Amino acid sequence: MYLGIDLGTSGLRALLIDGQGRSLGAAEAHYKAVHPHAGWSEQDPAEWIAALDKAVATLRAAHPEFTALKGIGVAGHMHGATLLDAGNQVLRPCILWNDTRSHIEAAELDALAEMRALSANIVFPGFTAPKLVWVAKNEPEIFEKVSKVLLPAAYLNWYLTGEHVADMSDSAGTSWLDVGARDWSDTLLAASGMRAGQMPRLVEGSAPAGHLRADLAQAWGVGDVTVAGGAGDNAASACGIGALSEGQGFVSLGTSGVLLAARDGFAPAPETALHTFCHAVPDRWYQMGVMLSATDSLNWLSTITGKSPRALVEPLEATWHETLPPPGRVRFLPYLSGERTPHNDAAIRGSFTGLGTDTTVDDMVLAVLTGVAFGLRDSAEALRATGAELGQLFAIGGGSASTLWLKLIATVLGVPLAKPQGGEFGAALGAARLGLCAATGADPAQVMTPPAIGALIAPDPALAGAYESAYQAFRAAYPAIRSIQ
Ligand code: XUL
Repeated sequence: MYLGIDLGTSGLRALLIDGQGRSLGAAEAHYKAVHPHAGWSEQDPAEWIAALDKAVATLRAAHPEFTALKGIGVAGHMHGATLLDAGNQVLRPCILWNDTRSHIEAAELDALAEMRALSANIVFPGFTAPKLVWVAKNEPEIFEKVSKVLLPAAYLNWYLTGEHVADMSDSAGTSWLDVGARDWSDTLLAASGMRAGQMPRLVEGSAPAGHLRADLAQAWGVGDVTVAGGAGDNAASACGIGALSEGQGFVSLGTSGVLLAARDGFAPAPETALHTFCHAVPDRWYQMGVMLSATDSLNWLSTITGKSPRALVEPLEATWHETLPPPGRVRFLPYLSGERTPHNDAAIRGSFTGLGTDTTVDDMVLAVLTGVAFGLRDSAEALRATGAELGQLFAIGGGSASTLWLKLIATVLGVPLAKPQGGEFGAALGAARLGLCAATGADPAQVMTPPAIGALIAPDPALAGAYESAYQAFRAAYPAIRSIQ
């Protein structure tokens, strides 16, 4: 019996699997991010613990076999800064991955030659290091007390084991890790006024990080339980979908949109604004493009129209069934919270162009779905330029429920998209698989297998040319809009 915990931005999912990796049951508990100022995004780590306790209580009540628990893996939303004092008290709310308050500090760090060379990435405003520089400047009384900085998943590792321990895949998103060497870099730490002693111990995601604390084990009615290093949520999703090697990858349509490709070697390309991170298994890396507003773009339209995202997409699906509409005149730039890949631009905001008195809500929905597809195409272009193979990709995340959206993305990327057959294949499964590997010593390559394919969604060749022209117009729109914002 193994437990995977996916600490997400809007809630926590806990999944129980058996020794063959089959899902036995899952439980969720929700919480929110708070936005005290524009561009800020924070969460109280106490809410994560409350959500974990609640989800575990639900699982224990539904599954008496929970007592046979042997391993746990935690996946978490990446880059968040949870600051602890010497007594392990949380000093302030965690500053999350989608918080852009430290964009000036990020640009300053990014300008230092050693940053990209060692961390293999641009220092994005959402990453952890610039957040600490911001805290040092704006909350010096808190900065002075920082004894440990833990990523959200590492904070749960601490809660579970009583140890400060993090995995390499998540730590790669701090701008403090030498991503090629898979170790903290004193040079990178010093650049933001930090010390190695403030960092957690590093382990591989699939390796044991520690054991469940005796008091928790007693409260949960379990014996000795191994806790794995765990992972950042994207590496965990890659473990859940079986993307470990070159040619394997996924498109994720969540709050943020991700196009991820597993890579056999370490080939950073920070100038493309791609992320190059350690995988959650030894000796492997992956690359991904991240767009900040994927389903968030549709959620925004949903909020201002008062219709649910499903209600917005349904009329288009009902009209077009399995086919695609041609690209419309209305265009949307999906930069509602700024953009990472390919622009690294925290200040840019979205826009609609081509509006007319005849424009309908349906036209705007199609423009939003298409704009997100074009944002993912930008990442695909960057990945292809580094030599990544993009054959067939899995499609995951809440937005992948819409076949129309997937058909659009398949056509814009020129790549067939595979929808998993159902069941579990996300970050919670990846985390549970890491727990299984850590507890049993099983070979990750044998455990992290792809799911069965439920539907294969092919690009539409008849519309490929029209969408290509529309994509070229989308590319041209960013610099034009940028110049007037
Ligand atoms: C990745 C990133 C997001 C978060 C949220 O760099 O910022 O995908 O991990 O899930």
